[in-house]
Amino acid sequence: NAAAVEAGELGDNHSHVNEEYAGVRWDKLRFSLTPTDYMYVMKCSKDEKYFSQGTLSPFGNIEMNPSSGILNYGQGLFEGLKAYRTEDGRILLFRPQQNALRMQMGAERMCMPSPTVEQFLNAVKQIVNANKSWVPPPEKGSLYIRPMLMGSGPNLGVAPATEYTFLTYASPVGNYHKGTLNLVVEEKFYRAFPGGTGGVKTIANYAPIYEREASTSNIFVVKGNLISTPATSNGTILPGVTRKSIIEIAHVLGYQVEERDVPVEELLDAEEVFLTGTAVVVNPVSSITYKGKRIEYKTGANANSTIVAQHFYAMLTGIQTGQIEDKMGWIVEI
Ligand code: COI
Repeated sequence: NAAAVEAGELGDNHSHVNEEYAGVRWDKLRFSLTPTDYMYVMKCSKDEKYFSQGTLSPFGNIEMNPSSGILNYGQGLFEGLKAYRTEDGRILLFRPQQNALRMQMGAERMCMPSPTVEQFLNAVKQIVNANKSWVPPPEKGSLYIRPMLMGSGPNLGVAPATEYTFLTYASPVGNYHKGTLNLVVEEKFYRAFPGGTGGVKTIANYAPIYEREASTSNIFVVKGNLISTPATSNGTILPGVTRKSIIEIAHVLGYQVEERDVPVEELLDAEEVFLTGTAVVVNPVSSITYKGKRIEYKTGANANSTIVAQHFYAMLTGIQTGQIEDKMGWIVEI
C-alpha cells in the first residue's frame, strides 16, 4: 500500500484509504498515540537551503545517527494541528498556514532551514489523505497531526546540523485533560526567560515540564468583560494558534482583550481562568493554588452558570468541525 501511495496510485475511490474506518474504539480515545498507516519524510542536506520532494512511507521507527543535532543538542521543533471529519464526510484543517509560519520562525531561531508554507501544507494534506480512515467520526475526536523539524545529520561539536529532516505523522486523539483542572503556581522552575526560546516550539521547552499541566497551554484570565492573556512580545510565551483564534473570537463577541504582562496576583480576584492550545482546545481551570492559598473559579459545571470559556469552546470547535460557518477564513478543506 505504501508503494502504491508513493507511486500516486491511490485514487479517490480506494476503499481502504478513503472509505473504511480503521479499527479504533472511538469512544475510548484519549490524547495518546494510536499508530496510523503512514508518515511523511522530507530531507534537506548540507549546504542546501531547500527541502527536496518528500515521500510517504509506512509509519514506524526511523534511523538516526547517534551524533545527530537533535539527539545531542536538542536541535528540533515540532508543531501540532488537528483534522476534523464533518457530518457530510469532508475533512477540515484549522489554520494550517499558521503552523507552517510558526515552524519557519522557530527554524530561524534554531539555525535550521525550514519547509516552505506550500511544502508544509502539502505534507499535512498528504498525511491526512494517506491516513483518512484514522480521522475519527464526527463528535468522536480528531486526527492530531504532528510535523517535526530536526537536525538529523551528525555533528560532534555544537553547530548547526549537517542534514535536516522534516517528518510528519498523525494519530487519532480525544480530550487531553480528564475532568477538572486544579493547578498549582510553579515558583521554583521557569519554563522560559527573555532572550531564550520560550516563544518558539522547540522540543527543549517541553522536556523539563512533564507533569506540569498548564505548561502545554496559553492562559487567559477573565474579569467582567475584560479578558487578559500574557503578551508574546518578550519572547517567553508561545504564540499559540488557538490563543490567537480565541483573541479574535473574543473581539467578535464584544469582549475587551488585553495582551500584556499578567501578574500572578491577578489570578487572585479573577472570575474565570482557562487554558488554550491545539491539544487542550479551551479548558476551564477549577482552581489555582498560589503560596498556599487556593482560589476557585467558575467552570460551568453548575448548570445555572455559563462561563466565557464555554462560549469560546463552542464557537471554536463549531468552526473547526464545520458546524458553524467559517466567516474568518480559517478552514482549509482537504
Ligand atoms: C498542542 O497543543 O498541540 C501542543 O503542542 C501541546 C503538546 C505538548 C501536546
